[in-house]
Amino acid sequence: MSRKKIALVGAGNIGGTLAHLAGLKELGDIVLFDIVDGVPQGKALDLAQSSPVSGFDATLSGASDYAAIAGADVVIVTAGVPRQPGMSRDDLLSVNLGVVAKVGAGVKQYAPGAFVICITNPLDVMVWALQKASGLPANRVVGMAGVLDSARFRYFLSEEFKVSVEDVSAFVLGGHGDDMVPSVRYSTVGGVPLPDLIAMGWTTQARIDAIVERTRKGGGEIVGLLKTGSAYYAPAASAIDMAESYLKDKRRVLPCAAYLDGEYGVKGLYVGVPTIIGANGVERVMEIKLDAAEQAMFDKSVNSVKTLIEAAKGLNKDFA
Ligand code: APR
Repeated sequence: MSRKKIALVGAGNIGGTLAHLAGLKELGDIVLFDIVDGVPQGKALDLAQSSPVSGFDATLSGASDYAAIAGADVVIVTAGVPRQPGMSRDDLLSVNLGVVAKVGAGVKQYAPGAFVICITNPLDVMVWALQKASGLPANRVVGMAGVLDSARFRYFLSEEFKVSVEDVSAFVLGGHGDDMVPSVRYSTVGGVPLPDLIAMGWTTQARIDAIVERTRKGGGEIVGLLKTGSAYYAPAASAIDMAESYLKDKRRVLPCAAYLDGEYGVKGLYVGVPTIIGANGVERVMEIKLDAAEQAMFDKSVNSVKTLIEAAKGLNKDFA
């Protein structure tokens, strides 16, 4: 059986980390693609030279020509520019729309059978644009946001309760922006929901509110610290989880920016919802019943995504 092929479009901070993780997990052969000639080739060679030490077998290569992604099983897109301090994810809209239009065309030509994971920000618009530009079925184009946002929530909760991150499960809905909806009701420690833990005196509502707020602004906190870019280890780890669930048909329940066709009352938009990822891509959207407060936050988040899509249509005629 030949190995799977993973194409990473964008060989920057996230792209390089994705290649490293995909190698360590032996998910398949890896192609790094970037417009900056030399960077994908250099990173591929460096990582290949780590493989005897770490003990993984994979062919790693770098390219600046889309032909190199031909026949990829998974394409993960990070091409574009990341945030600098003071910028919101939305500030990246115009530049990254142009980038995603080109990437979509490359995927359409060379990897139309792939499962495509978009990471480029502003995520909910970029994944929408990527699906349009590539023409791939919507169940095979998803955005990585929810796994990362819930990982941040899980980490902060594990610190709060002084328990293993493995025993914390968190639930985040909505767009990948500062008005995302971390759900307190559906987040648990060892299966016990957060409201019960508040009632048990393990924490307070105020502390949970602060954690929710820190989760919402989790990306910005890292941009502020790094000063020269945005987060990359956790985003890469999150996308690898999604790729692995697809490649191994694990049917993991993962929150992703998925195309909604009426679910949650939303039609024709990509928004963060819990999904099942298996061999057919997004196999199912899990539609939970929101309470009034969650619905209000979700609607606000969806409206932000809608506003950005309208702006995108005005900025780039490819998406009008
Ligand atoms: N085609 C291919 N690659 C491109 C293109 C393009 N048209 N335009 C830019 N790139 C490449 C850059 O050369 C760079 O190597 O995309 C890479 C982006 O890498 P970084 O600048 O290191 O950014 P990174 O931290 O990896 O984040 C990438 O993910 O989380 C989002 O907001 C983040 O949109 C950003 C993206």
